[in-house]
Amino acid sequence: MTEFSFKSLTENVGSEVMGLDMRQPLDDSARDRLERELADRSVLLVRGQTELTPKQHIAFSRCFGPLEDHVLQNFCLPSHPEIFVVSNIVENGKHIGAYGGSKEYHSDLAYLPEPSMGSVFHCLECPEEGGETAIVSMSAVYEALSAQRRGWLSQKRAVFDYVWQYERAHRDRPALTDEQKERVPPIGHPAVRTHPVNGKPALFLSEIWVRRFEGLDDEESQVMIRDILDFATSPEFTYVHKWRPGDVIIWDNRNSMHKACPFDEANTRRRMHRTTIKGSVPFFQAKAA
Ligand SMILES: [Fe+2]
Repeated sequence: MTEFSFKSLTENVGSEVMGLDMRQPLDDSARDRLERELADRSVLLVRGQTELTPKQHIAFSRCFGPLEDHVLQNFCLPSHPEIFVVSNIVENGKHIGAYGGSKEYHSDLAYLPEPSMGSVFHCLECPEEGGETAIVSMSAVYEALSAQRRGWLSQKRAVFDYVWQYERAHRDRPALTDEQKERVPPIGHPAVRTHPVNGKPALFLSEIWVRRFEGLDDEESQVMIRDILDFATSPEFTYVHKWRPGDVIIWDNRNSMHKACPFDEANTRRRMHRTTIKGSVPFFQAKAA
């Protein structure tokens, strides 16, 4: 039996898992407790995992479902392609990892028919200042909206449009080819999604990719989306994780959004290993009255 306990990180979002050694195999009941806590709190923190190897990281992540192959294979570990490296470090004139990390709130791969379920993110090196990860609980946000707005949003679908976002945000990058565009057509997802583990509704929007609500034009939608997101990103729904080497956070894309905070990329080192767990088609199920 695996012994561990939970401690809240903030009132609405995040739990620290105390006493868990991620190198050890998880039994079914431990896995179920972690899955439930993740669903309820959107993010789990495990500290002190300095000895965790890529192989153990992958084995732990697989307890929650199959893993995605990242599209940027050149930034994955050659020996363990399930591990995506996020880093600003340059070695022999080449970046060892993906060095961006979106500075705007999003949930991963939300523009695909089956957005990813979540990630297990392991810190190997981090700067003293900056480089935090901020996470917003979208189920807490949903609960705090007015009944009228909850009702309206739960009837709506939001159109996630990767190409639209790319063309407005990356004017400096090469244009997408027709073939690339065809791989990511706009997709409508429910603006409120039901969490498959705990059945709770969560708002499903983000600061990038969401172009409009179905049935409304872009302009009208953008005003409304900005207004909702200004409310969503207030501190009461947010946990900002200040990294230490050996920390692991697990986030749940089904009821949260996250972003990377800036840091001194020219003079400090940040190196993280990430696995990405596959997800399923988002759905909304109204609760029986
Ligand atoms: Fe992300």
